Amino acid sequence: MAPQEPLLLIYHILALCFAQRLFHDEYAVNIVILGPGAIGTLWAVKLAQAGHNVSMWSRSNHDKIHCSLQGQSTSHTFCNRSELGLKHADLILVTVKAWQLSGAIEPLLSKLHSDVIVLVMHNGMGTLDYLVDNLPNNPLLFATTSHGAMKLDGSNVKHTGWGETKLGALNQKGLSCEFLTEVLTDALEPVEWQQNIHHSLLLKLAVNCAINPLTALNDIKNGQLSSEFYFPLLEQLIDEICRVINAEGLVITQEALAKVVNKVITSTADNYSSMHQDIAHQRRTEIDFITGYLLTRAKFHNIAVPINDSLFQKIKKIEGK
Ligand code: PAF
Repeated sequence: MAPQEPLLLIYHILALCFAQRLFHDEYAVNIVILGPGAIGTLWAVKLAQAGHNVSMWSRSNHDKIHCSLQGQSTSHTFCNRSELGLKHADLILVTVKAWQLSGAIEPLLSKLHSDVIVLVMHNGMGTLDYLVDNLPNNPLLFATTSHGAMKLDGSNVKHTGWGETKLGALNQKGLSCEFLTEVLTDALEPVEWQQNIHHSLLLKLAVNCAINPLTALNDIKNGQLSSEFYFPLLEQLIDEICRVINAEGLVITQEALAKVVNKVITSTADNYSSMHQDIAHQRRTEIDFITGYLLTRAKFHNIAVPINDSLFQKIKKIEGK
């Protein structure tokens, strides 16, 4: 072998590694997950496994967060509260609960450059005005997901139900971010781009109004709602919800809405709803942004919603204890 041959080989290997890294980096999106609870951690792990540069921004002061998904042998370590990560972020995925949103975003407002895409994903409605008012120059998007996830302990998350994610723009700049559909699909499919995200949010609101308070108050899994016992109550509940979301502009029949709700009940049958988990752990629930939002809109449209109202009062009473 000529003396320069091993050197040539090393050079080729280095060039190949460099080209692969370049290709990888071109595709990789720098993502910060703000508020990594159960759903945020699920997305963090799936996005990292899809090849993206993911870090977290949680309340904890630890520099690193270790986590894993139940059923997977590999565990992941994410940087936490990295200023550099935030500075270079292409996307902030906000997965805090609706009532935590302003408190979580406020301290970061001065640190976020106006190109960073802000994608919010939480149950319920009522935070859009805050986002549009406080991030007027950023591309803003909202996603709604019916995946079920549960924290088993500080670092383990269980993906309890396969769902789907709908994504859409909240402002003009957000309209240019349809490419995120592919980024998210590679991580956790299916993901669908919506021209009118408001309609998807109303539909998800309807699902949460039907499932969450009932499962929390009766201490049951989602799947138990399909028993005959709950049928009459669920039917009346869906009737009220349907009238409100129709008045809000989403045209859907009561039968069609019942089908949507039942599909989620079946696909997440083994899941304890997020409101059930919140009540079980004596945490504040999202009731103000789920049933509470529905009650506000019902009042606006002059629609009577006594069943929803009574579920709302019951959850508030437990929260107040
Ligand atoms: O809030 C939840 O738990 C979820 O949105 C859903 C889809 C109802 C599944 O449990």
